Amino acid sequence: MGNSTIDTESSGADRTGVWLVGAYGNVATSAIVGACAVADGVLDTTGMVTERPPCTELELPSVEGFVFGGHDIRETTILTQAKKMAQDGTPNPAIVEAVADELEAIDQAVERGTAINCGNAVDTLADETVDGDLTGIIDEIQADLRSFRDRHALDRVVLVNLASTEPTLEGTEQYATLERFETALEANDPALPASSLYAYAALDAGYPYINFTPSTGGSLGGLAELAEQNGVPHMGRDAKTGETLIKTALGPMFAARNLDVLSWEGHNILGNTDGKVLDDEENKAGKLASKGDVLDSILGETFHNRVRIDYTPSLGDRKTAWDYIHFRGFFETEMKMQFTWEGSDSALAAPLVLDLVRLIAHADKHGLAGTQPHLASFFKSPADVDEHDLSKQFAMLSEYVDRYADDSVEQSPPRKPPAGEWL
Ligand code: NAI
Repeated sequence: MGNSTIDTESSGADRTGVWLVGAYGNVATSAIVGACAVADGVLDTTGMVTERPPCTELELPSVEGFVFGGHDIRETTILTQAKKMAQDGTPNPAIVEAVADELEAIDQAVERGTAINCGNAVDTLADETVDGDLTGIIDEIQADLRSFRDRHALDRVVLVNLASTEPTLEGTEQYATLERFETALEANDPALPASSLYAYAALDAGYPYINFTPSTGGSLGGLAELAEQNGVPHMGRDAKTGETLIKTALGPMFAARNLDVLSWEGHNILGNTDGKVLDDEENKAGKLASKGDVLDSILGETFHNRVRIDYTPSLGDRKTAWDYIHFRGFFETEMKMQFTWEGSDSALAAPLVLDLVRLIAHADKHGLAGTQPHLASFFKSPADVDEHDLSKQFAMLSEYVDRYADDSVEQSPPRKPPAGEWL
């Protein structure tokens, strides 16, 4: 991996920096361990969408070339977190051992982040944070990104938000244009959450941005305008990895067969730090909304649709979802379907982080700006996309691949120079 030596020589191939906000979290740790292990040839790529057709037809940056860094607000190390996770078997302890030196090198590139307006549950986690004026915080985030990019002579840096879920931001009109957003920044707006400051820092600097979480991040109108203005691709939010993934595959089946869904109860229990943060009602609200909304869009809003998320400490990273679907067919016959999903949250999420970095870097290289609808299948609340049917979302990804499969970058329209320029 690029971090094992701090070299400044360009290898010829594109060098992609991957900046993870929430670098010590389960998903970030798993993505880093996984990428190192894939690069070292000790792990296969099962779970990565970009490692199977149609995406294999695209010229994507290789995981081997990824260079990692990030922000967190807790004092620990990636290796400590990886070893802690390995006690539960994921990732496998032998894999963590095999990449331990690389993890220690990556730790050198993890900086202190900000937890402004992330709610009490996150404040309780935090050891040390960057505070002060909002513009000062953004300057500090950008200085960290700039130093990371220069140190490793990177062609681009992709910022991925993998931090704990924040409370929902109430009222977004005051951030609906770039001018209003920047006025709010200058005035030290008391509500703007950390995720949107990270998003601004990235988009302003010309760095592609992914919001893997339900937090506000880059979803504000002013930030969308900034991305368009600077010619930067971005996408979010809330990755679709488990129960919601199934809902968007199964829901369309009930619709297509004209079966009348009467009730869909989804009960999720999980025990990791994410589960603990989501146990706070304030932080849980965004997640409940993105998990609940998908079925309404596929089946209409006429049925009883409820999602619950509860914290069950002993489960650790193993999220369990139990879904009960009560439906009606011909002769008004009532029937039911139940399923239980027992997923390792981070094992499901980590490969998607790597996929999203590769795909957004590809879009950036081809000069695509703004939200990237072809990435909708990765998200519970895909930005600017109303389609939640999983197979139709996959078709959007296939269409993108068809468009770019044989396309060298030289043949593509030139990238718009970012108005804010690279840092
Ligand atoms: P986690 O709780 O293990 O990790 C979150 C990390 O973010 C922690 O290390 C925490 O210290 C750090 N953090 C919190 N606020 C921060 C801030 N403002 N700046 C920098 N660092 C900050 O959570 P996990 O399981 O890794 O999940 C990460 C995020 O991804 C959560 O928001 C979760 O809801 C979201 N997500 C996870 C999925 C999955 O695991 N399958 C699926 C969809 C979304």
